[in-house]
Amino acid sequence: MRRLVIETDVLDVNSTYTYLLMATDFADTTIVADRDGDLCGLITGYHPPSRPEVLFVWQVAVARAAQGTGLASVMLDGLVERVRLDRHGHPVTVEATVAPDNAASRAFFAAFARRQGVPLVEEPRFTAADLDVDQNHPDEPLLRIGPITTSMVD
Ligand SMILES: CC(C)(COP(=O)(O)OP(=O)(O)OC[C@H]1O[C@@H](n2cnc3c(N)ncnc32)[C@H](O)[C@@H]1OP(=O)(O)O)[C@@H](O)C(=O)NCCC(=O)NCCS
Repeated sequence: MRRLVIETDVLDVNSTYTYLLMATDFADTTIVADRDGDLCGLITGYHPPSRPEVLFVWQVAVARAAQGTGLASVMLDGLVERVRLDRHGHPVTVEATVAPDNAASRAFFAAFARRQGVPLVEEPRFTAADLDVDQNHPDEPLLRIGPITTSMVD
């Protein structure tokens, strides 16, 4: 998982230990895709402890060779469906922070909101100063998508 994140050249790279935690303790809210045994996609996420109705999407990565084929969308649709089932059909709201200049990520979340037929709202979240005292990191405003109340497979 860490190698795939490095390959994106865009995402912050976390420790192998962090990805092990996502693959174990946070496996219910994390999804990966593999092709012939090679990991080619991942979404890591969690439920904020005080807001279990929220699926916070932390990192989304698709291997370069698989980008533009709909893989990230298939993973997010599948993950949200799984989380809805785990929550016995209760509504789920997807949240993520996205840098203003990450066009691919913004298009990906906008397309998800359109498929679900729910609003996407944006508000301030982490600022450059929060993320890096030298301010070499862009702001990460929050995207909130939902609430998703119906299943796409119903
Ligand atoms: C962002 C990312 C995960 C998208 O993965 P993907 O599998 O290529 O995405 P999909 O094929 O499912 O496309 C989803 C939507 O985003 C759009 N999109 C994908 N890449 C795009 C790009 N580079 N520029 C503009 N739109 C793009 C697609 O056209 C599609 O929209 P549509 O349904 O309206 O046609 C992938 O580009 C990636 O790994 N980028 C590097 C890591 C990153 O930035 N992650 C941040 C995500 S939080």
